[in-house]
Amino acid sequence: MSEKLNHARKYEEKYEKLIRPEMRPAFHLSPRVGWMNDPNGFSIYKGRYHMFYQYHPYESKWGPMHWGHAVSSDLLYWEYLPAAIAPDMPYDEAGCFSGSAIELDDGRQLLMYTGVRREKDPDGREHDVQTQCLAVGDGIDYTKYEGNPVLTENDLPEGASRIDFRDPHIWREPDGTYLAVTGNRASNGLGQLLLFESPDAFHWHFKSTMEVNNGQYGRMWECPDFFRMDGQDFVIMSPQDLLPVGLDIPSGNITLCQMGKFDPSAGTFEEEKSQAIDFGIDFYAPQTIQTPDGRRVMIGWMQNWDACSIRPEEEPWAGQMSLPRELSWKNNRLVQKPVRELAGYRKNKVSYRNLKVSGEPLYLEGMKGRTVDMEVSVRPDALEDIFHSVTIGLAAGGPFHTDVTFRPWEETLAVDRNYSGSRRAILHKRKCHIENGSAGKISLRIIIDRYSVEVFTADGTRAMSAEIFTDLSADRIYLQAKGTAVVDIDRYELVLD
Ligand code: FRU
Repeated sequence: MSEKLNHARKYEEKYEKLIRPEMRPAFHLSPRVGWMNDPNGFSIYKGRYHMFYQYHPYESKWGPMHWGHAVSSDLLYWEYLPAAIAPDMPYDEAGCFSGSAIELDDGRQLLMYTGVRREKDPDGREHDVQTQCLAVGDGIDYTKYEGNPVLTENDLPEGASRIDFRDPHIWREPDGTYLAVTGNRASNGLGQLLLFESPDAFHWHFKSTMEVNNGQYGRMWECPDFFRMDGQDFVIMSPQDLLPVGLDIPSGNITLCQMGKFDPSAGTFEEEKSQAIDFGIDFYAPQTIQTPDGRRVMIGWMQNWDACSIRPEEEPWAGQMSLPRELSWKNNRLVQKPVRELAGYRKNKVSYRNLKVSGEPLYLEGMKGRTVDMEVSVRPDALEDIFHSVTIGLAAGGPFHTDVTFRPWEETLAVDRNYSGSRRAILHKRKCHIENGSAGKISLRIIIDRYSVEVFTADGTRAMSAEIFTDLSADRIYLQAKGTAVVDIDRYELVLD
């Protein structure tokens, strides 16, 4: 093992002790210590779910990327394993960037990742050079392949960038061929997805340009994922620098799901329908797996590059994953639901029916908690008198509250974390469109896990995620309406022993 990896492993073992369990999310994976961004190598290996992640153990901010590692048997209770890889080779000395994992025929697990090194151009300016690399292991210890890097600038088609060439997603076709798709920047500065092929997962060559950005989705495209579901083909990716389009496409760095047709012989993907995946503030770079019982499950990084300066650096950890979400495609829409395993941890149900909410905030007996699963359904009191808005206030107490607000007249649902404890002047509020919302009816599933809120609505066609920064003592939940609304609520505590 390299000195660097050994050092990281010793460091995380020592300093994770600074983080008491209640200081971090209960069932969302957070870094063992220090900084986390993208999920990497999300896979099933030796009977357990494996999640690796972009990891800088030494500080609570981005730095030279390692891969952290955790395993789980239910996607919710995660156990840390030692850091898997460190930036310890000349070709990845500036970082082991995002990538994926697959099990080889001989039973070993292969990690495919982006190696980054720095290079000076003739004018003395520094920039990255990104290549694709491999490491092979047994689920705990990984050895970098002696043939690294396996894909370099020499493998790129005309005009493709060697500076922005990253995030390989590997999979195997039914005929046994390995394919890997990476993000890349074309000569016009816009993103493209490049497809590479290998007979054995070690020897790779360029196959095709799988998809190009004609300027329809931002600039650079990061972190592609490809899968088949219910007879259709899907690409998920994270385009950067988007201009917003109404309420359908948020600005900044977003996540996009495309349904279309993959032609395996040509290696091209033709988009038929696309949609943004998450309409909240924090969701990026998701990866998916297929579970043994056939479900497609997605986990993203519950953060956003435009907002991640937000956690004070003195905190011993920063960054967390989203809930694992079961995906399906219905009526030309991506549907997301929290994994069904979550319901197994529900305890202490508190229910209210036919609550008339109007005027002042309504605090109800038992309506509280910071690890909560809640189902809320809202309807008007009278059809001819639809309320103006209903707010569900979460993590409330003292100066703090995070609001989920439904406004029928605008047909929107908003998440607002302005008062969640952030001291930064950045994006704190997002809205999404609720089809037929003007009728004043909505059903919500809201999950709180200490430092985050995730909302699923419109039959799973809308998901909104946000980190919050609120002191744990603020644990009240309230209802408030302008006008009169009628509300049913079931609230459970989520208890992971
Ligand atoms: C996405 C990303 C990836 C890259 C990684 C670096 O969030 O920018 O493209 O591999 O983060 O940490």
